[in-house]
Amino acid sequence: MQDSTLFESRKRDHIELALQEQNQTADVSQLESITLVHEALPDINFQDISIETTLFGEKQSKPFFISSMTAGHADATALNMRLARVCQDYQWPMGVGSQRRQLFDHEARREWQMVRRVAPTAILFANLGIAQVISTSTKLVQELVDSLEASAMIVHLNALQECLQPEGTPQFAGGLKSIGRLVKELECPVIVKETGCGMSLETMKRLNDIGVHAIDVSGLGGTHWGRIEGRRGEIGKNNKISQAARVFSNWGISSVESILNSQKLTSKSRPDIWASGGLRSGLDTAKFFALGAKMAGFAKPALENAVKGEEALTEWMSLMEYELKIAMFCTGSQNLNEIKNKVSLHANR
Ligand SMILES: Cc1cc2nc3c(=O)[nH]c(=O)nc-3n(C[C@H](O)[C@H](O)[C@H](O)COP(=O)(O)O)c2cc1C
Repeated sequence: MQDSTLFESRKRDHIELALQEQNQTADVSQLESITLVHEALPDINFQDISIETTLFGEKQSKPFFISSMTAGHADATALNMRLARVCQDYQWPMGVGSQRRQLFDHEARREWQMVRRVAPTAILFANLGIAQVISTSTKLVQELVDSLEASAMIVHLNALQECLQPEGTPQFAGGLKSIGRLVKELECPVIVKETGCGMSLETMKRLNDIGVHAIDVSGLGGTHWGRIEGRRGEIGKNNKISQAARVFSNWGISSVESILNSQKLTSKSRPDIWASGGLRSGLDTAKFFALGAKMAGFAKPALENAVKGEEALTEWMSLMEYELKIAMFCTGSQNLNEIKNKVSLHANR
């Protein structure tokens, strides 16, 4: 049985700490090692640029999504409703935060019903951590999807975080098999994402073998759960956790390295690769589209703007689209297919 008060305060701490710069890993993002190739004579008009992509094989007008974040307390519901409303207007898909609470508190489904009510046509993704997926029947996972009327289920992988939480659940044995079960039995596509520590080629191969529909690499370079849980350890005077967290404060595979790893997935039935983890501008996303990503996601910057209000959030979303289009114009790319490979990788990676 979970303690709801503890659960709520942990989720609140996470929001506050995620917004602090020292819990970000921009210094090791490796984004500087990639530049797009400038085209001085683009043979296109800015207004004709299309940022359309595909989502599970269907046309998707915008290639951005809000990455799964918060859930399970009153402030989170308001934030998720604000995010969902604006995402609907901008046609950005949005992942909600872990729906774990609903597994022990049936009433928690109301949060998702409220989010859906304010954004009836938004593309929303359900979310659950791998440790819970392992111990939860497909029927219950389907209920999480249904309460949000979600288009897909995201399973999140957070090995480092689970090790550094006093209340963590680093029980991942049987994880791959459980994801495979969801792929076969759930009535929607399954996406697997990291939470800021990235993915190796080996991990992606294993996920590819069981047929997941999309992989979001969510690599090192942005929000870092080692740093956040380390800070919680310091505040809670848990020396063991805070010391270990310092050792692991740069742990992970960068989003850049992860997307390069994904290029080596050679099988024909490859899942779509999504990029997130440290993406902070439309130019950052353009680099990942050039390296083969189908979608690009933001967590912390979206949270930062959602906290300020709906106007700040819409301005920021519009800015991301504008910056992506500038990068496309200045590489002579009328659509996202044309930006592929217009990229230079520098040796200091
Ligand atoms: C406050 C906060 C809460 C998060 N909670 C979840 C979660 O419940 N499930 C999940 O899959 N990822 C969660 N994440 C991880 C993000 O989806 C994302 O993978 C990670 O923050 C890296 O992206 P960023 O650098 O743009 O923040 C959370 C991130 C933040 C900032």
